This record gives sequence, C-alpha cells and structure tokens, in this order.
Amino acid sequence: MSIKIDSLGDWKRTHYCGELRKSHCEKEVILFGWVSRIRDLGNLVFIDLRDREGIVQVVFTSENKQLIDRAKKIKMEYVLGIKGKVQRREEKSMNRELPTGEIEVLAKELKILNISQTTPFVISDPPQASEELRFKYRYLDLRRPSLQRNIKLRHQIALKIRNFMAKKGFLEIETPFLSKSTPEGARDYLVPSRIYKGKFYALPQSPQLFKQILMISGFDKYFQIVRCFRDEDLRADRQPEFTQIDIEMSFIDPEDIYNLIEEMMKEVFDVINYSIKTPFKKIPYNESIEKYGTDRPDLRNKIEIINITDLAKDSEVEIFKKVIASGGEVRGIVVREGIGFSRKELDELGERARTLGGKGIIWIKRDETGFKSPLKIKEDFFLKLWEYMNAKMGDLILLVADEKFLTLKILGELRNLVGKKTDSKDYRFVWITDFPLFEWSEEENRIISNHHPFTAPKEEDLKYLETDPLRVRSKAYDLVINGIEIGGGSIRINNIELQERIFKILGLNEKEIKDKFGFFLEALKYGAPPHGGIALGFDRLVMILAGEDSIREVIPFPKTTSALCLLTGSPSEVAQKQIEELGLELKKPQNK
Ligand code: AMO
Repeated sequence: MSIKIDSLGDWKRTHYCGELRKSHCEKEVILFGWVSRIRDLGNLVFIDLRDREGIVQVVFTSENKQLIDRAKKIKMEYVLGIKGKVQRREEKSMNRELPTGEIEVLAKELKILNISQTTPFVISDPPQASEELRFKYRYLDLRRPSLQRNIKLRHQIALKIRNFMAKKGFLEIETPFLSKSTPEGARDYLVPSRIYKGKFYALPQSPQLFKQILMISGFDKYFQIVRCFRDEDLRADRQPEFTQIDIEMSFIDPEDIYNLIEEMMKEVFDVINYSIKTPFKKIPYNESIEKYGTDRPDLRNKIEIINITDLAKDSEVEIFKKVIASGGEVRGIVVREGIGFSRKELDELGERARTLGGKGIIWIKRDETGFKSPLKIKEDFFLKLWEYMNAKMGDLILLVADEKFLTLKILGELRNLVGKKTDSKDYRFVWITDFPLFEWSEEENRIISNHHPFTAPKEEDLKYLETDPLRVRSKAYDLVINGIEIGGGSIRINNIELQERIFKILGLNEKEIKDKFGFFLEALKYGAPPHGGIALGFDRLVMILAGEDSIREVIPFPKTTSALCLLTGSPSEVAQKQIEELGLELKKPQNK
C-alpha cells in the first residue's frame, strides 16, 4: 500500500510536543514529530507523537472521516505534522506519568512527511534491545526520550561551564589534535604522516603540555572543553575518545583550584536543582587508602577499615601470627546489622578476596546466642574485637590478613560490595590530596609518575627525591564524587633543573628526554610562571548528573567496550593506495 508523502508547505512549528500543558488548552498548535505509539479503537485513533522535548497524545475522531481514515494508515516512526487544538483529557484517561498527560491534541489536519521501515527494535525506555543492535542503529536509539534528555543536559552543562569560566576571566583556547605524544600513561592513537613518511602525529591524551606552554606565553587563565584520545582498556566510565574540561592558571596554589571547581560544581549541579555544600571534604591519599582501601572512596558508604594488627598479634589465631611475623597486617570492617549475610554470600566475598590475590576472609557474627565464625577459638578474642571495632549485637565483622596493601585493596573492594546502597541523588564530593609523586609499576618493573611527570613535589619531601622517591608526596589532587574519579590535576614544576631531575628518576636518558620533551624543556627556560591546573572528565560529570551508570548513555556516538563504532563500522580497512601513500606496509592482511 503506497502512501502519499505530503510536503511541508508553509507549516511552521508552534510548539514542541513535550512542552504542552494544561495552560495551552484551546490553543491551535502545529507539531512535528515521530510516531511512538498507535492505538486504533475504530472510531478513535490515538497517536503518541514524539519530538526532542517529549511525547504528546494526538487524537483523531470519526467526526472527520477522511482524516481518521488517513490516520489509520500511519505506522510506527512515521514523521508527522499535526495541526490541531489542545484539549483537556477526561479525568479517567489522564496519564500522571507523562508531563503532557493532562492534555491531548485533537487533530484537525495531518501531514505524513515521511514513512519509516519497521525499526529493528522498539524505541522505548528502558531499552529492550541489546547494546550492539542499538549502537548499530544509534540514530534510532538516540530517539529514546532518556537519551534526548541526556544529550540536552550535556549541552546545558557545557554552556553553564563556558559561561562560568568566561565570567571568571578564563579564555577558551584551542590546542592541536595532530601533535606529539603526551605522557598520561595510556597508549597513543597515532596518525601517520603522508608527507614525512615513517613519521607520526599522536592524538592528544590531554592538552597537558600545550596548556602549560600557554601559561609560559602569558595567557594566565586557560580553559578548553576538549576531546582527548587514549588507547586503553575500556570500562563503563572510559571511552577511547572522551571530553575533558581542561583548566590551567598561573600564580596559584591548590586552594585556588579547589575554590574555582567547587564554585563551578555549585553552578553545574544547579542545572538539576541540587544544591551542594562547600568547601568539599579533603582527605590525604594515605588516609584514604588506610580508611577506604582506595583513592576513590564513595563517602555515602559509612564503613571504614580498622587496623587490628595490635590486637591480632596477641591472639591465638595461627594465621594472624604468621602473617604479622612476615610483616603483614590484619584489618577489618564492621558491617552494621550484617548478621543476615548467608553462608553463600560470605563464601562469595571470600572468593572475591581470592580473585584479588588474597587468601580469603574471616567472618564473625554475633547475636544473643553468642559468636559464629569459622575461627574456632576462645570467645575472649571475639569480645575484645567487638569492643575494639566498636561493633554491636547483630553486626558482622570481616577480617583480612595479608600484606598491607593487598589487605587494604581487598577490604576496599569488600566495603563497596557490602556497604549500604544509599540514594543515588545524594552526592558526596571529596578532594583526595597529597598523592605520591611516583609509584612502582610491576608491569614495567620501574618507577613511574603517579599522575604525569610535570607534577610538582611537595617542598618538604624534596629531600627524599633521589634517596627514597616512593616516599615523596606531590601537589596533586583528584576530585571524587560518589566513588567516581571526576578530575585530577596538580601544581606543576616550573623549574627546569627540577624537571630534569624528575625525568632522571623516571629512568629517561638524555636522548629520550630531548626527543620526547625537548620542546617543552626549552620552553621552561624562558620565564615559566608558577602554575597549575586540573582536568575534569566531562562525560563522567554528565553521567553523574543524568543519573546514568555508563558514560555511553551521555555520549551521542560512543564506541563499544571493544572500541568499535558499530554505526560506521570503524575501525575499517583502507585502500591499498592509501597505505602506500603513507609509506606503510601491513605485516599481514587484517581479517577482522
Ligand atoms: P587525568 O588523566 O586524570 O588528568 O584525566 C582527567 C579526567 O579525565 C577523565 N578521563 C576519562 N574519561 C573517560 N574516558 C577515559 N578514557 C578517561 N580518561 C580520563 C577522568 C579523569 O579524572 N592532564 C591531566 C590533568 C591535569 O593534570 O591538569 C589529565 O589528563 O574523569
């Protein structure tokens, strides 16, 4: 059955579907949108029309025979123009779930502006189809009201931030995408040069060095909402290309950054009518690791890790004594009212500890009848433990005995698993400060920078730089919201000698330093002001504000967790000619 497609003619939209309310009753409106639901009751046809602002019900009645006959030909996802009158729905047919649910539009004229094939999945919230299918037809997936809302929210937040930064005297300055590798710790995406065969540009992992150079150029306050590229393992909160709110300032200390970002967060959270309290809590890195087993604590969770090594060393528990004798520790957490944890659940926690490299967990429960635990020892130790850890009747205690950092890591993870899930609309902000300047990389078997090599050490720790580098703390800070790392930054090194010392400690030789960062070290020689900055993960911020669990829900065209763009089918093979032009040769045909 062929359908006549109407032309737009001189119709102009008067309202978006989603903005109609009671106050529009009796108004003549022109709407455009996509069909998201059809109900044909014979003498009445109801159509839900969807546009970017929402959905409204359109009704066709048998009073206009020609019109309703045409309406009966409409199918899902057709593109319609409707001229009609807004009217109040009868009380019994009001839909309180829908913002437009008190009204409907009585259709007087209809334009079918385009037809649609049957879509490969129903466009609905929450989505029914697999992510794979939805990403292949992302343009259809993006019609979902929640995605339309998220993408709009993304725009609103970006606009808020731009206005805020401009008001604060920052200049938005662009930096190159075709550039040299920057050391943020991930692999680079490389772009081969056609003109200089055998040479490559690297897509920026961040504009780190350019923003520091802009400070040397005297721009003083820089920001950019900028795409960054990192070839790393993907997770729900990571994409190969993502957006940063990148900031750098001269003549500042960390407090200036804290104040600026806290004020920015106030404005940003205002978009969802959430008022936040400042200043944010600050926790030094070491304290965060000791209390929460992570540098990304979710402070909605009240559980804290307690060191019971002193108590355990005098106990009759062999395993504790053994671990302590070999330099390890015993630590634990109290799960309030955790008595209800089943054996199966406790076994699963033990299994989790083992997958993290530990030996398992020891659990102890207490109720009116006494203590229950796989530990068969005198009650005396349990009583002391209960007092030491401030536990109550009905609580559960989980203990781990192992090397210090493994113990903390396991308990940090268990804390996340057993901690009370609180309201997702409760946002807990925290600055983690005083990060170690370096860390030991097992993988590379050498010292690496904890953030990046331009981070300034704390003055009081400079004395350990060469003798005990892992002890040196830095002027670096991270912003964490509900357990998610939203941003990180630092005060930078603006002194060439110190910068060269750091490179040496990192094991870079003169040639490597010159090849990789020669241009930057040169710039540091010409009056580099004291400076510092931060970068916030824009996608993660929008994800939190949108109440989503994955950044893929707030990025219009995301990649899959295996870095594929299913819509376009990239990455893809290219013509042999293009490869030759670049002076490249493929080792073997890629058959993926
Ligand atoms: P950093 O590497 O910590 O710092 O990055 C800053 C923030 O960017 C976000 N982020 C990501 N978001 C999505 N996908 C990814 N793959 C991804 N990687 C990072 C995180 C992170 O906190 N140049 C420094 C900043 C500075 O020192 O000023 C930097 O890039 O939210």
